[in-house]
Amino acid sequence: EKGGYDYFMLKEIAEQPKAVADTLLGRIDASGSLTLDELRISDAELRETDKIVIVACGTAFHAGLIAKYAIEHWTRIPCEVELASEFRYRDPILHQRTLVIAISQSGETMDTLMALRHAREQGAKVVAICNTNGSTIPRESDAVLYTHAGPEVAVASTKAFLTQLVACYLVALYLGQVRGTKWGDEIHAVIRELARSAEKVELVLETMEPVRALARSLADKKTVLFLGRHVGYPVALEGALKLKELAYMHAEGFAAGELKHGPIALIEEDLPVVVVVPSPRGRSVLHDKIVSNIQEIRARGARTIVIAEEGDEAVVPYADHLIRIPETPTLLQPLVATVPLQVFACELATARGNEVDQPRNLAKSVTVE
Ligand code: F6R
Repeated sequence: EKGGYDYFMLKEIAEQPKAVADTLLGRIDASGSLTLDELRISDAELRETDKIVIVACGTAFHAGLIAKYAIEHWTRIPCEVELASEFRYRDPILHQRTLVIAISQSGETMDTLMALRHAREQGAKVVAICNTNGSTIPRESDAVLYTHAGPEVAVASTKAFLTQLVACYLVALYLGQVRGTKWGDEIHAVIRELARSAEKVELVLETMEPVRALARSLADKKTVLFLGRHVGYPVALEGALKLKELAYMHAEGFAAGELKHGPIALIEEDLPVVVVVPSPRGRSVLHDKIVSNIQEIRARGARTIVIAEEGDEAVVPYADHLIRIPETPTLLQPLVATVPLQVFACELATARGNEVDQPRNLAKSVTVE
């Protein structure tokens, strides 16, 4: 059942190219447009949507944070992302033109379920992004877009996360397509790129040996920090969450722009800091800013672990360790940038003798509040 792997988590990390491909399957037609028949909300209603609210917990929440960048860019509809456990107690403002997206692997997470019930009571439409057929969250939603990651057994979410990203991109691009925003041409180009993402994830998986060796060498560290900007920021949060839950280490993710507002005080000699670097093509301002952040922390002694695109030479002088990922449009980069962080956390946990598939104190689906 573990298919020759020592842990389900390793198997599930390896299954990601297939999970991504299966989640795209049948959703891009021959002309390169999206067909989301499952989205049982009419195009007319989608055109009237004036606000999107994403609710989720944990790793699914990080997928939602990334989705916000994609949705607002491609659809120009304001999008909020909120932890389901906070949302429902906040008396949120929702109405009939609000589209709520509830993201959940299990489809049984109590906080997310309560948030969507609350949203529907207020008259909002709810679309679930879910990996479990017939589970409660999709049953109680107006529509569901299933992720096709297959069963995820390891408690720490990996392949489900990547497919949640794919589903979020599909919804964002579909809304962009239906509403005909000025990004029409870009949307077509991105759909083509999205169609190639499974191959890119495969390429990343083939180059993970140095990441494993690096993880083993850090097994006695107490803290690891993660920095990112734009969509790299939620990726940093996800890298830190994986490390906490699997390696039981103190780990924190920061928006790199926030360094000067406090976190830079944490930097000390030999502290490992993982930095997710956006593509130097496209939004080059973002890229240049993060390169100076890397310089700043390295000047203060940090051991920099840099995740950067193939061909990005600007980071080389400041990277103590360099992890390469394939060229990918910035908004889609989390699909490839997250994978090394999963491998890193899994290997570090193993090196520390932890039970990878069943971390202490955690359950796969959280059906209590
Ligand atoms: C972390 C992890 C959890 C879940 C969270 C939501 O690796 O697995 O943070 O992402 O409990 O679970 P679902 O997606 O089932 O609602």
